[in-house]
Amino acid sequence: MEESRRTEQVDLLQRLKKLTVSLVCCLPLSLLGLLLMLLLIYNSFSAFSLHFDPIPPKSTLSLNYNHHQVLHHHPSLSSSSRSTLTSSSKSDSSMLLAVKETSLGFVQKQKVSPIKTERRTRRRKRRNGLTPAMTQKPQGKSRQKFKTRIKSFLSESSCESLFFMIWISSLESFGERERFTIESLFKSHPNSCLILVSNSLDCERGTLILKPFTDKGLKVLAIKPDFTYIFKDTSAEKWFERLKKGMFSPGVIPLEQNLSNILRLALLYKFGGIYLDTDVIILKPLTSLHNVIGAQTVDPVTRKWSRLNNAVLIFDKNHPLLKSFIDEFSRTFNGNKWGHNGPYLVSRVVARFNVSNSSWDMGFSVLPPSSFYPVDWTRISGFYRASVNGREANWSHKRLMHLRKHSLSVHLWNRESKKLRIEKGSIIQKLMSDSCIFCNSSFLH
Ligand SMILES: *[C@@H]1O[C@H](CO)[C@@H](O)[C@H](O)[C@H]1NC(C)=O
Ligand SMILES: *[C@@H]1O[C@H](CO)[C@@H](O)[C@H](O)[C@H]1NC(C)=O
Ligand SMILES: *[C@@H]1O[C@H](CO)[C@@H](O)[C@H](O)[C@H]1NC(C)=O
Ligand SMILES: *[C@@H]1O[C@H](CO)[C@@H](O)[C@H](O)[C@H]1NC(C)=O
Ligand SMILES: *[C@@H]1O[C@H](CO)[C@@H](O)[C@H](O)[C@H]1NC(C)=O
Repeated sequence: MEESRRTEQVDLLQRLKKLTVSLVCCLPLSLLGLLLMLLLIYNSFSAFSLHFDPIPPKSTLSLNYNHHQVLHHHPSLSSSSRSTLTSSSKSDSSMLLAVKETSLGFVQKQKVSPIKTERRTRRRKRRNGLTPAMTQKPQGKSRQKFKTRIKSFLSESSCESLFFMIWISSLESFGERERFTIESLFKSHPNSCLILVSNSLDCERGTLILKPFTDKGLKVLAIKPDFTYIFKDTSAEKWFERLKKGMFSPGVIPLEQNLSNILRLALLYKFGGIYLDTDVIILKPLTSLHNVIGAQTVDPVTRKWSRLNNAVLIFDKNHPLLKSFIDEFSRTFNGNKWGHNGPYLVSRVVARFNVSNSSWDMGFSVLPPSSFYPVDWTRISGFYRASVNGREANWSHKRLMHLRKHSLSVHLWNRESKKLRIEKGSIIQKLMSDSCIFCNSSFLH
């Protein structure tokens, strides 16, 4: 099955390529459309075939523990900080990182043998206008640049907290919804800094996209990653070397997605801070949290978490749990299994620590789904729809009140929701109205 899917994909790509070549001279616009369509098809492919496991129905409203309890237990939170969930505070240096997972030539793959990979690389390059010259920078020079630029950004900015996001896709695909994640982030953390790790946004046109923020005095830096520097002195260093040398196959899954999985871990390990995916809306200040990871699902019977997610991570630098994640990634990387290096990885590792109890000893906490993942991906579509009758309106109102009270962020599960229209009066639209800065996004009207 796996094999036939692969063959199908290769076949699809091949056909597209032929079409592309025949069209390229006369119809540049159609070519673009065609490429986009291909991408959509290819994406839905992976979306359908590489899903999360089915999750038992559950009500996030009826969890028997809540984040106040969990926070209460956390060793690094003082008792006074329990009440700080709703009031911003403290000048710690956390960083928010957000990663968007699609394809862009972050890495120059060397001699990765399968033809299909080669083709994928070429397609990617065409799509992003990347040339080998752009991806083969002199390591030493770009490393110096990355390090010094981050340093000077931080020293000039006096960041109350530091946020990182990662955008691995093209500039064009950085749309209104992604920009909104930044809006919501600065709405709750106006004095924080955001480092957007991105190849595509670190250019003049990218600067234009971020200009509304910088014009407002908000501190954001888009910067090309230097993997060698970021992975240095972790087990990811060797993994990356082997990858570059083509010593193992990156697998059928776009390499960039897996890179984003390791990149977020390594960035937090190096700098400390908060990592965020670009499909997260921040509802409340996160600055009082230290060393937390969020549960995505809870076992309805035992009430213990059954899956964690890595879309929001808040950790001090050099945290031992991050090291465990990175070690696990380097040891068990499998580019063919969706989620294996991401959400499943963090769940796998934390499970080994019998977290219901001894998480403590490692100095981290697991927050309940209501904190970061209040709506499951299987139910996200309901949050984009307006109520059509009184019963729905009641439900929607109750849900909204609960979210405003208990949730710190909402993960929108872009994979499921990016094609959904944000209807006027929907829960998502109301949350976005709460969290906007410019409040002129098309979906707010
Ligand atoms: C929203 O406002 C910002 C800042 O004033 C502006 O730069 C941006 O172009 C506006 N966006 C839209 C969609 O109107
Ligand atoms: C690598 O990233 C792809 C991108 O979607 C993902 O499907 C795949 O599961 C990842 N591989 C692993 C081992 O996580
Ligand atoms: C977790 O529990 C299992 C069995 O319940 C035990 O074998 C294992 O050693 C425990 N791990 C830790 C880190 O305490
Ligand atoms: C968890 O830890 C507490 C305190 O150390 C202990 O009393 C309790 O028995 C432990 N529970 C489990 C399931 O190990
Ligand atoms: C909505 O809730 C209100 C009170 O909470 C109730 O009086 C009303 O009957 C409900 N409407 C519907 C259609 O369920």
